[in-house]
Amino acid sequence: MLRMWLRNGALSGSGERGVFYRTLSYMEMPRVRARPHGGRLNWNGLELPDKNVYFKDEDSLIYCADCRDILPLLRDKSIDLVMASPPYDDLRTYGGYSLDILGMPRLLLPIMLDGACCVWIVGDQVINGSETGSSFRQALAFLDSGFSLHDTMIYAKDAFRFPESGRYLQQFEYMFVFSNGKPKTFNPINQKHKNNYVKGKYMAQRQRDGTLVGKVYSSSNDFQLGNIWFYDVGYMKSSKIDYVFEHPAIFPELLADDHINSWSNPNDLILDPFLGSGTTAYCAKKLGRKCIGIEIEEKYCEIAKKRLSQSVMRLDV
Ligand SMILES: C[S@@+](CC[C@H](N)C(=O)[O-])C[C@H]1O[C@@H](n2cnc3c(N)ncnc32)[C@H](O)[C@@H]1O
Repeated sequence: MLRMWLRNGALSGSGERGVFYRTLSYMEMPRVRARPHGGRLNWNGLELPDKNVYFKDEDSLIYCADCRDILPLLRDKSIDLVMASPPYDDLRTYGGYSLDILGMPRLLLPIMLDGACCVWIVGDQVINGSETGSSFRQALAFLDSGFSLHDTMIYAKDAFRFPESGRYLQQFEYMFVFSNGKPKTFNPINQKHKNNYVKGKYMAQRQRDGTLVGKVYSSSNDFQLGNIWFYDVGYMKSSKIDYVFEHPAIFPELLADDHINSWSNPNDLILDPFLGSGTTAYCAKKLGRKCIGIEIEEKYCEIAKKRLSQSVMRLDV
């Protein structure tokens, strides 16, 4: 069987010795679900692998491992929300690990419940004068793997990276919201900490006959947030915990809060396969959700563990 798959490559054909084989890329490999093996632990009623567990409490479970080793061992259709900011374009090197990110959607889809969403936060590097387009490639890989692209959202920052001459300052990253079918949960945010809410604004909608019908949105029932979200980022802004900034690329706790609130409900199970400093798990705990996090670098697992071990003020859920 494996030989048949291998034969399918671009180099296959008749040669002196019959058939040439080439190595399939990670993306092309047929998905083989790993059978649960080794030790298992029971956590919140779930049978999970017990290898590489770095931290465990009632709300959070952290694996110190390559997520590609752990994800196939998770139970099918068990995750309510994936929240991830992958390492992109080798922008920052994390212990020299390399990762074929385009293979990730095929690892994630089977373990997600029907209607579960995956928030994927990513930007591009500029290489040889051109943006890499990695974000788009990743979005297309999710679509090709069977996800829907539910919403392309923007994470706009009050700080810039890579000041360069000849182009405007890079001020945002994408927040792709992929879904496994129609999203099962949407709790629209009803707060005014963003500056793009529409209350008090005139909104017009074009009708089928071409006319415009509009109204001024005045009641709080009309409140609806747009999909460009603005956050203050940087030291003691993304988080009020100083040691988390030992990680070079955290996303703001407020951003994690907003997505967790939007796409999950209390007691839901959230997964972050690139946990970093533990922002997703920390915010999940605060908001009454459970979280499985996977992080390859031990020093970042340690930050996440420390963060989760300190008392978290639970918000009313
Ligand atoms: C952009 S950071 C995530 C930061 C996180 N959202 C936070 O707020 O702290 C990406 C993380 O993925 C980790 N990582 C890279 N390759 C990995 C892999 N194959 N499996 C698990 N974690 C990985 C890196 O060490 C890094 O900490």
